[in-house]
Parts: sequence; structure tokens; C-alpha cells
Amino acid sequence: MKTLNAISLSTTLQCPHCHKLYNIEERQSFATCCNQPLLTNYDLDLPKSHLLHSAERTIWRYAKLLPVFDKHNIVSLGEGWTPISELSALSQRNYLLLKDESVNPTGSFKARGISVAVSKAKELGITHCIIPTAGNAGGALSAYCAKAGIKATVVMPRHTPATLQEECRIYGAELILVDGLIDDCGKLARQLVAETGGFDMSTLKEPYRLEGKKTMGYEIAEQLNWKLPDVIIYPTGGGTGLIGMWKAFHEMQQLGWITGHLPRMVIVQAENCAPMVNLFEHTQNIPALPTIAYGLAVPAPFAKDLMLEVLGQSNGTALTVSEQEMEDGIVEVARAEGVLLSPEGSATYIGCKKLVESRWIAEDETVLLFNTGSWYKYR
Ligand SMILES: Cc1ncc(COP(=O)(O)O)c(C=O)c1O
Repeated sequence: MKTLNAISLSTTLQCPHCHKLYNIEERQSFATCCNQPLLTNYDLDLPKSHLLHSAERTIWRYAKLLPVFDKHNIVSLGEGWTPISELSALSQRNYLLLKDESVNPTGSFKARGISVAVSKAKELGITHCIIPTAGNAGGALSAYCAKAGIKATVVMPRHTPATLQEECRIYGAELILVDGLIDDCGKLARQLVAETGGFDMSTLKEPYRLEGKKTMGYEIAEQLNWKLPDVIIYPTGGGTGLIGMWKAFHEMQQLGWITGHLPRMVIVQAENCAPMVNLFEHTQNIPALPTIAYGLAVPAPFAKDLMLEVLGQSNGTALTVSEQEMEDGIVEVARAEGVLLSPEGSATYIGCKKLVESRWIAEDETVLLFNTGSWYKYR
């Protein structure tokens, strides 16, 4: 499949536990050896000038560091290269930055991962993708599959807001509603995969959504002149973005693009569903409840080991926010900054306030928050 003018420097897929290599030119899911997500390896020995397509204002400016070999297979709706701005009214001693992912196609950062995964699916000749979703990833898969001419099946909790359901139907996807949370959707999706031979697009069960999400790490470095913030606060469900950014930082160190300390990575979750906070704090996992931050309602994330590794390696931490705090944060940021955050975005702001109060974040540190989705989709 690799063409002579292959745009990607990807070489192999690898199990993060036993390091077994998997063939990148074949359809792969997760590492069957250790039941872990598969990570993509690249040949990183080229100088920077050969690697960036600086005129391209999408994630595909990093095409050499993404897994699609033939540029004709790229399925893009203009995702990525989202703005980072200072929350100047709310920055006191801290320098507070916000990366606003709500401006992505389909209104969330899911567009990044899905653009890469659908492009790679097209390259591998896959004709049917199946996804369990809390909402945003389903909309993104529906849109990118529509563009690619691939059939999409979306399995979503019945209580998901109408906008998130309706967009899937309009993009032409098959939408299946389930009474329960995303883990119940995952069970049905696995059954459909077995029955139909469709490709499982579940978070981190296929290797390439991670590669798309890692572009957030590349962008943060490039947009901040290759100097990373001290702390990054990430609203965490399945953990693709957290693990992806950490992977990007290591790739950039290998490339010599960044030096010095990497950011301390913070997981923020909803009190109603906080499996990673419970694992990090060694506290008992209580049964998950729905939350207004739909993207954070992942009771049993597949990549929990990799997320704990990111927290450990980065000296990071994990904390929860309540439903009321997220509601209040939306109003506070809207009135101070003129920016409407999704509940997940608000969670990063509230998480930051708590960590400044407890002095886990020092007064002079630079903190980057994420608004991962558009408030307008939660109606
Ligand atoms: C708006 C939003 N924020 C955050 C998340 C969690 O993302 P991740 O799976 O990368 O942890 C999701 C996932 O559905 C989401 O839709």
C-alpha cells in the first residue's frame, strides 16, 4: 500500500506493554497480546523543515506524522488548527489559556480523531464503521463517513440531547439508541461488529483516532512557539486526547522540536462518573450516573493503564467537579470572557480554580484549558 510518494513516516503499530509489533498495512484493532491500545510508530530522523506543511491550516499540516500513506485517502472537513487565546479577565497571577475546540467541523475535537481514523479506514478498504458514543464522536463519524462514502452505524445512549442524535440521521448514519451509558452502547457495538463484519471505531480499540487527537499536542507546541504550558487540564472520558498529547510531546522531544520540562497533565472528571479519579486516588469506584458533561460519562475506560502512566510520568493529578460547578463555570466564563463553554470545557475551568486554591498550581504558572465541544450542541 505504501506508495513511492507516501506522505506518512509511519512504520509499525506496537503494543505498549510487551512491545510486540503489528503490521500497519493491515486492518488492526487493539493489541490482542495484552488487551491494550495499539500505538503507531514513525521514523523520526528527518529535520523539522521536511515535516511541516506550514501552509495547511488543518491537522494535515502534520501529515508526515499521521498514519495515512496516500494523500488521496485523506478525508478532511477542515479540522484542527484551532485558536488558543488568553482568558484575560480571568487570568490573575496565572496565565490562563484556552484552546477552543468547539470551532472544529461538527462542533467538537472528535473531528480530529475521526478524520484520521476514517481516512485510514478508507485506505484499508473498510466499507462500514460502527461506533459506540456519548454523542460527539457519533456526529463526527457520521459526517466523515458521509464524505468518504463509508456506511456508519452509531450506537448512542437514549438520553443524549436531540441535536447530537439528529445530526447523525441527517448525515445518513444508522442511529441505534440504547438505555444506558456508553459501556452499554459498547456491548451492542461489539455484537454488531461480530454480526456484520463492520469495523469497530470504539475509543482506542482502533489505533488512529489517537493519532488524530495527538495533533492537539503538536498545535499547542507550535502555536506557543515551541514552549509548552506548565499545566494542561483535560476533560477526560476515554482518554484519547490525554494519551495522544503525551505521545505527541514525546515524538516532538525525539524530533528535537521541544526541550525542557513537559506539562503536568490533569484529568478532570464529573463527580457522577469518575473512574480515573478513583483509580488515581485508590478510592472505591461508585456506580456511574449520567452527567451534563456527556463526553465524560465513560464508566470503564479501556485505556486506563495508559492514562495512569501519563499522570505518573508528568507528575499530574486527577480531580472531580460537580454538576452545579460545571453549570456555574459556564455562566462565569461567559460573563467574564464572552466565551460559551461546553460542560466539559467548564469542568477544566473549575478544575483549574480548585487546583489554584489548593496551590497545586503555583501563582505564576501557565495553564492551558480545553473547550472540547460546542455549548450549542447540548440542547
Ligand atoms: C466534549 C467532549 N469532551 C471530552 C470528551 C472526552 O474525550 P476523551 O475520550 O479524549 O477523554 C468527549 C468525549 O466524548 C467529549 O465529547
